[in-house]
Amino acid sequence: MLTEYRHFVRAETELLAEFLSGEEWPFHSTGSPERELVRRHVAEGHYDSDSVRTFWIMIEGKRAGLIRLFDIDDGTPLFDLRVARAYRGLGVGRHAVRWLTKYLFTALPAISRIEGTTRQDNHAMRRVFRLCGYTKEAHYREAWPGCDGILYDGVGYAILRRDWATGTLTMPEWDDEHAGL
Ligand SMILES: CC(C)(COP(=O)(O)OP(=O)(O)OC[C@H]1O[C@@H](n2cnc3c(N)ncnc32)[C@H](O)[C@@H]1OP(=O)(O)O)[C@@H](O)C(=O)NCCC(=O)NCCS
Repeated sequence: MLTEYRHFVRAETELLAEFLSGEEWPFHSTGSPERELVRRHVAEGHYDSDSVRTFWIMIEGKRAGLIRLFDIDDGTPLFDLRVARAYRGLGVGRHAVRWLTKYLFTALPAISRIEGTTRQDNHAMRRVFRLCGYTKEAHYREAWPGCDGILYDGVGYAILRRDWATGTLTMPEWDDEHAGL
């Protein structure tokens, strides 16, 4: 599959509104957003600003997904990834995470880590994190409001620049609550 990543520009607001409102996003608190909400977010700089960059995932010339990089001026960038239902399970998600990881570490030489969070029961996204060298390093109990009103657990993953550069995986020091703490 020919996969390209194309910078989102504001002239594509209607295409973005169509993409986001035309799909169900069950693991996002906002679910399927109204077109008007997307337009307002674009106008407010939610998709492009000093701290945010957004890219279309283009498969064979078609808009198959979206990557939103945010907090990129804050030391540790985060990202949101959405693949349209018709393209899920084909390796698009892992290709996108490998691409954005290389993109961020190359474009921002000062950063030493990249983070991503997801809902605990988003097994596909968690699998993608693992396949792309990200390590679970946080668990947030009842921190992720679902669009069904339920409070789900959230999980945080991150990759270190040195692990990315060497292909290794440094695990967090989980067992550090020794006697006396
Ligand atoms: C999560 C998402 C980005 C993954 O993208 P994708 O293109 O489907 O991912 P890939 O095809 O690269 O890989 C998916 C992996 O998850 C696995 N997987 C899929 N559904 C799964 C499930 N329910 N349980 C366990 N593993 C699952 C696949 O088998 C595959 O792993 P494998 O290659 O070892 O078999 C995509 O499903 C999506 O956009 N979902 C909706 C939006 C979303 O939840 N985004 C996350 C933001 S927090």
